[in-house]
Amino acid sequence: MLIGFDWKAVWHELAQVMDRLDVIIAAHAGREGPLLPILHDVQAAFGHVSEDSMRAIAAALNLSRAEVYGVVSFYHDFHAEPGHSPALRLCRAEACQARGVEALVAELPAAARVKVGTVYCLGLCSVGPAAIVGGTVHARLDAARLVELVDAA
Ligand code: FES
Repeated sequence: MLIGFDWKAVWHELAQVMDRLDVIIAAHAGREGPLLPILHDVQAAFGHVSEDSMRAIAAALNLSRAEVYGVVSFYHDFHAEPGHSPALRLCRAEACQARGVEALVAELPAAARVKVGTVYCLGLCSVGPAAIVGGTVHARLDAARLVELVDAA
């Protein structure tokens, strides 16, 4: 036994995570095609979709873990490991490209570029370049505003 290791706290934290996961899964019970909404909620709640979460989701939906993992690994919005979600996602689809998004990216300092993820269309095509930060969308970005958003993210 490890001396000083707080097993009780770890167990309590794990139980809270699993309770939260149960609530997310239950919220989509009976829905047609519940996997993607569940994965979105789990990603939003925990910042990633862990192995344990994938097992629990697979069991709840009567899927194999490989099926759930296949979906998680297919979509860029889902991450199996923590710490991979970029703080800001910049739209780099056609309309935002036509409105100069690549020039904005080129103006970003290298340190800021690593904090910027990519998304393909946020539905703000006519007012691009657009980005999303923490669930809030931002449009009509110029270089200065993009730097501000990246610094604040
Ligand atoms: S192409 Fe960027 S918001 Fe649609």
